[in-house]
Formats: sequence, C-alpha cells, structure tokens
Amino acid sequence: MADAAAKLLAGNLVAFPTETVYGLGADACNAEAVAKIYSAKGRPTDHPLIVHVASMGVLSEWADHVPEYAISLARDFWPGPMTLVIRRSKLARDFVTGGQDTVGIRVPAHPVALGLLEAFAQIGGKGIAAPSANRFGSVSPTNAQAVVAELGEYLTYQDRILDGGPCDVGLESTIIDCTGDAPEILRPGAITEEMINKSTNIKIGSKFVYTDEDLPGITINGKPIEIQAIRVSGSLENHYSPKATVLLDQSPLPGQGFIAMAGVVSGEGVIRLAEPTTHDEFARILYTALRAADEQGLETVVVLQPKGTGIAVAIRDRLVKASRK
Ligand code: TXA
Ligand code: MG
Repeated sequence: MADAAAKLLAGNLVAFPTETVYGLGADACNAEAVAKIYSAKGRPTDHPLIVHVASMGVLSEWADHVPEYAISLARDFWPGPMTLVIRRSKLARDFVTGGQDTVGIRVPAHPVALGLLEAFAQIGGKGIAAPSANRFGSVSPTNAQAVVAELGEYLTYQDRILDGGPCDVGLESTIIDCTGDAPEILRPGAITEEMINKSTNIKIGSKFVYTDEDLPGITINGKPIEIQAIRVSGSLENHYSPKATVLLDQSPLPGQGFIAMAGVVSGEGVIRLAEPTTHDEFARILYTALRAADEQGLETVVVLQPKGTGIAVAIRDRLVKASRK
C-alpha cells in the first residue's frame, strides 16, 4: 500500500480493485498524472472522472453546497457502490471534472481500495481520480487479469496493478446527481432507487422506465418467455461493449454464446457462458462472461435480461448499452 501510494503521489498510475469494478487511479490533484489516465484509456478528455476518497469526512474539501439528502445517502451507503455528483469546490479542477462545475465522489468499500486511499491520505494525497480500468468503450474489468488484458500495454514500469481478486458487485457504482432539490439517478447500480427513496425520504423520479411494448414473441425450446423492455437515458459515455455482438432476449442459435438465469435451457450447440442463480450473481459474473465470449472468439452472445427491480435495473442498463453498436 505504501509503495503504491508513493507511486501515485509521484504522478504514476495505480490500478486497484473496488467492490464494483477495477479502477485506474491517479492523484486527483495532479494534472499530468490525470492526463495519463486519459491516454492509457484512449478516452476523450472532456469526460469527468470520479474522485475516490477514504471517508465522507473529506466531502466538504471536494464539494460545496452538499444537500441534506446527499449527507444522508453518504451516511447510509459509504463505503459502498455509490457515486455522488455534487457542486465542486476549488480543489476539484477542470482536468478532473471535465470542465463541469460538479464533481463525482465515492468512498469505495473494497479493503484494498480503502487501504490505498488511507495510505495515500497519510502522505498528503487528497483523493484518487479513477475511471474503470478498461480502454474507452469496452467492458469494465472485474479482476486483475482483465486489467492486464485491457491496459497492460499502455502502462509503464512505474505504474502498478493491485490484485484484489474478483469484484463482489461486478457492475459500476450507482451515480446520483445531488445538485437539485431531489436526488436523480444518472447510472443505476447496486444502490437502487428503492434504497435511495428509503434513505432520503424523497420519492425520486426515475429515468429508468420499463414498458411492455416492443416485445417480440420469444421462445426458448418452444416455451414462450416473458421479458420486460427497458428505456434508458443514453446520457453517459460508456458503451460497455465486448467485441462480440450482443443480442437481447432471443433464442440462441448453435455456435452463439448464451447468458441466462439458471433453469433456462440452452439448446443444442449453444455455448453457455453463464447461468447465475440470483440477480446479484448475474451482476457479478456478467462482465467476465462477456469477456469469455471474446476470448473464445464468439461472434454473437445472446443474453436474456433479468426482470424486476433491484440490481436487475442496472444489469439491463448495461446490457442495452452493450447491445448498441
Ligand atoms: O464503480 C465505479 O463507479 C467505477 C469504480 C472504479 O469506482 N468507476 C467508474 O468510472 O465506473 P467511469 O469513469 O468508468 O464512469 C464514471 C461515469 C462516467 O460516465 C462519467 O461521465 C460520470 O461517471 N461522471 C463522473 N463525474 C461526473 C460528474 N461530475 N457529472 C456527471 N457525470 C459524471
Ligand atoms: Mg467506465
């Protein structure tokens, strides 16, 4: 931890595990270090980065005008899979916020992330700017091997990748806009709308509306299956796409990859990539399964979207984005 923190303070990159996905970190106050993130990722520089901090105690260093409901969210869900977008303080410079007057802040729950953040704070670091540790537009890494595959060739010998094993949640954090009178979900995740409502006592409006329209008559092995369509805001940059084409809610053909809840039969010649038994497990293994499709050179992966609320909302959000090319 001390070595990695020192590397960060010296302006190098450190990829580290969080409970959501692996992040590619740099000193959030060092413009040159942050620029290295953008070049390693191949990401446009006007896209804002999340600043990771060790505790909610330093929230006021990074943010101004923190609303009451944001404090309540921070108390309830930090450390955890939640990012708050708040009016920035002077500490949050344009090179981190993409020139916006807000900053995204998160206290991650992974012990390695927290250990790194604490070691970094001890030597004077204010926060670690970190996007997901993948090339721009591709699938977020949920283990250290995936970070190496994504970014190995773009890092130097001064940079580090910390291996903390597979991520627990497997999908990126819930991003909540805290600049208005009420919280608004910008990206769904493991902290769900229901949890936010309960914590803040505010019934939030959701952009993530489900409709039953446009549903094709889908059958698997002759049995009809019921699927809910989802409409998402496409406002965030990420595509979350593997190389393989992702098709949603249809019958897989022989030679195609297939991801669906356990209990759904694959059919002959179909390459089953995952059969989770719960939605939490679905979230946890989804990106590994999409990566496996690429490693096996599959052209197409068919995914049956999980239904209902909770983390299933976030799973569908990423799947819809992955299927748009
Ligand atoms: O779980 C996560 O959030 C992971 C781990 C490493 O913390 N990080 C992550 O970062 O997913 P990234 O950069 O891949 O996605 C963050 C998203 C981007 O789409 C970015 O545009 C948005 O958050 N974002 C960051 N700061 C923002 C701000 N001030 N206002 C609006 N959107 C913001
Ligand atoms: Mg990302």
